[in-house]
Amino acid sequence: MRDPKYDVLFEPVRIGPKVMRNRFYQTPHCSGFGSDYAGTQAEFRATKAEGGWAVVNTEYCSIHPESDDAPFIQAKLWDESDVRNLGLMVQRAHDHGSLAGVELNYFGPNHTGHELRYPARGVSQIPSARFVMHSCYEMDREDIRELQGFYVAAAERARDAGFDLILIYGAETVPITQQFLMPYFNRRTDEYGGSFENRARFTREVLELIRDALGDDCALGVRFSIDTLSEDGLGIDVHQDGVRFIEHVDHLVDLWDVQVGPPSLLDTTDSVSASRVRPENWQQPWVAQIRSHTSKPIVGVGRFTNPDTMVAAIRSGQLDIIGAARPSIADPFLPSKIEQGRLDEIRECIGCNVCIGRFKQGGVRLVCTQNPTAGEEYRRGWHPERFTRAGNSDNDVLVVGAGPAGMECAIVLAKRGMRRVHLVEAEDELGGAMRWIARLPGLGEWGRVVDYRRIQIQKLKNLEFIPRTRLDATAVAEYGAEIVVMATGSRWAGDGLNGWTRDVIPGADASLPHCLTPEQVMVQGLRPPGEHVLVYDCEGYFMGASLAEKLVRDGQRVTLVTPYPTVGPYMAFTTEAIYMHKLLRHLGVELVTEQVIGRIEAGAVTGGTPSHPARSVWDADSVVLVTQRVSSDAIYRDLRSAPDRLEREGITGLYRIGDCIEPRLIAECIFDGHRLAREIDSDDPAKPRATIRENLVLGAVQPPTGSVAPASSSRA
Ligand SMILES: Cc1cc2nc3c(=O)[nH]c(=O)nc-3n(C[C@H](O)[C@H](O)[C@H](O)COP(=O)(O)O)c2cc1C
Ligand code: SF4
Repeated sequence: MRDPKYDVLFEPVRIGPKVMRNRFYQTPHCSGFGSDYAGTQAEFRATKAEGGWAVVNTEYCSIHPESDDAPFIQAKLWDESDVRNLGLMVQRAHDHGSLAGVELNYFGPNHTGHELRYPARGVSQIPSARFVMHSCYEMDREDIRELQGFYVAAAERARDAGFDLILIYGAETVPITQQFLMPYFNRRTDEYGGSFENRARFTREVLELIRDALGDDCALGVRFSIDTLSEDGLGIDVHQDGVRFIEHVDHLVDLWDVQVGPPSLLDTTDSVSASRVRPENWQQPWVAQIRSHTSKPIVGVGRFTNPDTMVAAIRSGQLDIIGAARPSIADPFLPSKIEQGRLDEIRECIGCNVCIGRFKQGGVRLVCTQNPTAGEEYRRGWHPERFTRAGNSDNDVLVVGAGPAGMECAIVLAKRGMRRVHLVEAEDELGGAMRWIARLPGLGEWGRVVDYRRIQIQKLKNLEFIPRTRLDATAVAEYGAEIVVMATGSRWAGDGLNGWTRDVIPGADASLPHCLTPEQVMVQGLRPPGEHVLVYDCEGYFMGASLAEKLVRDGQRVTLVTPYPTVGPYMAFTTEAIYMHKLLRHLGVELVTEQVIGRIEAGAVTGGTPSHPARSVWDADSVVLVTQRVSSDAIYRDLRSAPDRLEREGITGLYRIGDCIEPRLIAECIFDGHRLAREIDSDDPAKPRATIRENLVLGAVQPPTGSVAPASSSRA
């Protein structure tokens, strides 16, 4: 049962004509589903509604074909077909007693125009900072009236789709409303530029027009960046235009959905900040400023996963409503778990930003490290909290390796009722590589991947964790389990093997004192000898940068060399790159890009461009090789090559998951383990089952709105 101290979180909140059943609100966030993948969108948000979120919002939703973001998948309300598609999401949210919200957007110069090739209207003719070679034309009064009409028409379509809440997208600095307000973008000299009242005029008029058109049919709100954290004085400062804007249009809105940052379109470090950048509820000092300027409920964000922090934010007057994007992705059932007193079952977001990383790679389907079912509710029929008994549950399963993939697989197998699941691990503890990755600077919250699963493993009676047991192929074969899952992970190459030269590096040898792998530094605790360490990063994500940070903090002189044009390019997707580059420079790490190392000797490392590999020499005393990971698959290959032996031992299924197949993102490893366990009773569990594809079929009749069953779908 719920602890009474959390009762306040479950009080209803009135937002204009609508009532939220509790204080949990999923803020708008991209999913890669938009209105094109109607079934996926509907079930994704419906799962959150079922899990207790009183409001579920779409992602940014284009009001008109002029705001065309292809290939990024956005929601759209361009015509009746979008009304019908998004109507399914609304209906499924309502099925679970939640309100559905939509975030209306016009990008102006920040759209791509790649689908329809329309020119973009802008506040002033200033090129986009989001995309190269994109500009706009400065709107005259007639253009402005027409654009405001687009907002109203889209709001009417939203009402027709059944939406309860209409939000005007004014978050960050991308939408046109925000660009009117910010002097940085607004260079106009007419009644829409210059003074605060003039810069606020566009959005005020849009709100008035929508109010007139819709009356009390829907609640109306603004998603507003109250402070863009700009240092040039041309953005929004909460003490000035931030609170001024709130006072200016407070009478027109039913709620404020506020957030902070970012200062530019390119640097989204703050607005969707990774856990290494900002802690939970970091926006509190800014949001606390607005209470006395509004009479309407305030929603705010800050990776809220701790119910005590949520209660404190409400009791202090900072917020009325707990907004969350990532916590709702990582655990769609977070509110229900608080309500039912199941706090130890909350799957807390780790702030890795792999979710937004998918958006930044072209707006494709979202994935989540912690929650492998995110986005798989419709096409795979996965529910984050419900598991069916496996058809072959009268079997024992041996899972070898308790890293992220092995833990996840074992948990799901146990939840599917397998007779016994034996999770065997060579080391003392659960976690595999996560045990030491979470000890890298700034990555402490990543330890939640293990913490959450440790608790689940302890609770499952048919799952036994067996530490300190290293099995060879014979021991695996003779273990006595009918099904064997190899989750033995991967290890960093000790010979410099890498994807840039597709070869080892002459002189690289981790058995020599001056060459170390990440495991030797982090697991064995070896300090690279000498004063000057060179970290060579060919992977391009967090490992090279994090080790450089650790070593420089440990007092060594560090040079980070990478063949990529920037350090850790994958971190640009996760919004960590700009922060990490600044941090490493601030700490004194020398950053060297576009250099391939050709030879390693103690005291002299040579490298250069790929075509001239011996042009640079570094006087490094030692080298940390972050070149590539290699699957630890020897036992799997050994067993697979002897099918007779497997048969003799009564093994009916041998599988491998996670890095043991292919070293990749932790999110993909967890997904892999989850997928195998969900399909352990399929005809061939090694091969993923076919999924529902939401493809338009020429000439097919669209399914009636409301149908999500694959059988009745006209999509194949
Ligand atoms: C994957 C992802 C996509 C997002 N897309 C949008 C969006 O379309 N519109 C928007 O206003 N905010 C968007 N956001 C920002 C979130 O709504 C939220 O403000 C931010 O993530 C901070 O909240 P959190 O700490 O609860 O995640 C997105 C965030 C994420 C993680
Ligand atoms: S991918 Fe990472 S940051 Fe995003 S919701 Fe999942 S755990 Fe949180």
